Amino acid sequence: MSARLIDGKASAAAFRVRMAAEAARLRQAHKITPTVAVVLVGDDSASAVYVAAKEKAVKEAGFIARDFRSPASLSESELIAQVDMLNRDPSVHGILVQMPLPAHIEPRRVIAAIHPDKDVDGLSPANAGRLLTGEFGLKRGLVACTPLGAMMLLKETMGARLSGLDALVIGRSNLVGRPMAQLLLQENCTVTTAHSQTRDLPRLAARADILVAAIGRAELVRKDWVKPGAAVIDVGMNRKQGSNGKSKLVGDVAFDEVSAVAGAITPVPGGVGPMTIACLMRNTLIAAALQTGLPQPDI
Ligand SMILES: NC(=O)c1ccc[n+]([C@@H]2O[C@H](COP(=O)([O-])OP(=O)(O)OC[C@H]3O[C@@H](n4cnc5c(N)ncnc54)[C@H](OP(=O)(O)O)[C@@H]3O)[C@@H](O)[C@H]2O)c1
Repeated sequence: MSARLIDGKASAAAFRVRMAAEAARLRQAHKITPTVAVVLVGDDSASAVYVAAKEKAVKEAGFIARDFRSPASLSESELIAQVDMLNRDPSVHGILVQMPLPAHIEPRRVIAAIHPDKDVDGLSPANAGRLLTGEFGLKRGLVACTPLGAMMLLKETMGARLSGLDALVIGRSNLVGRPMAQLLLQENCTVTTAHSQTRDLPRLAARADILVAAIGRAELVRKDWVKPGAAVIDVGMNRKQGSNGKSKLVGDVAFDEVSAVAGAITPVPGGVGPMTIACLMRNTLIAAALQTGLPQPDI
């Protein structure tokens, strides 16, 4: 391996220490404990694992996580009523509705029902719009956690050298690809967004100084696609059968071969994933500031 390993686990741990200190300061100076309501509908086992990890992390940092669990039979209007109740509860600073929701509930309507100042996932149309217009970004406002965490890792790795570079984002979801492209644009990258209908992806990838893979296809990005020296951010989380017959977590990038040509690369696991949870905490601190009239913390 010649690429520098971008250690998301270490970066997230350091970031979490800073946020725990900010939470302690808010408590001491203003008697405010950042509080996030975690809403889980149904019994999807992967969602339960993600929710438990998020709650553990926020509690360790001195935040409050309040659990709202409902059976899969909850109707869309009942869920929206629950969100509305949380919107009006002044003790709740952030609302996180865990996805995926049961098939009979339209996620867009639920996300749109969350008050923008409590939208700690940064996915509401209002907050997506603020990112698009540049009002929100790396240093301010509620921005989608996974791309924000990916961007923080890139900034740590590249610093001011990001300006003017060619960036390729593979994936255009509202959750990752689109906000990632906006964050890169704010850093003065020249951004291309690719998707399943893109022609000749390897040709686009070959000229990218930065390649972000948010596809959901195990190890799709191969060595011969990647420009030598490029920074590669792998957002993908896919289950694959290992040689020992057990399933293992892999990214969208073929890590072993790509790390031989890339300049820097995130591993899976231990790359973007830990930063996602850390950014949820960052957003909860910002949400607490937005609702209490305090200045946004410098974190
Ligand atoms: N680390 C974390 O914390 C974290 C958080 C969220 C997601 N993830 C992971 O990130 C990955 C992407 O998540 P997502 O929610 O963005 O997924 P998604 O909503 O399914 O979007 C996937 C995107 O990839 C594009 N795509 C699919 N196949 C492609 C191909 N062969 N060539 C080029 N583009 C292709 C799709 O194009 P179309 O738009 O044309 O369909 C779509 O835009 C998944 O592995 C997910 O598990 C990780």
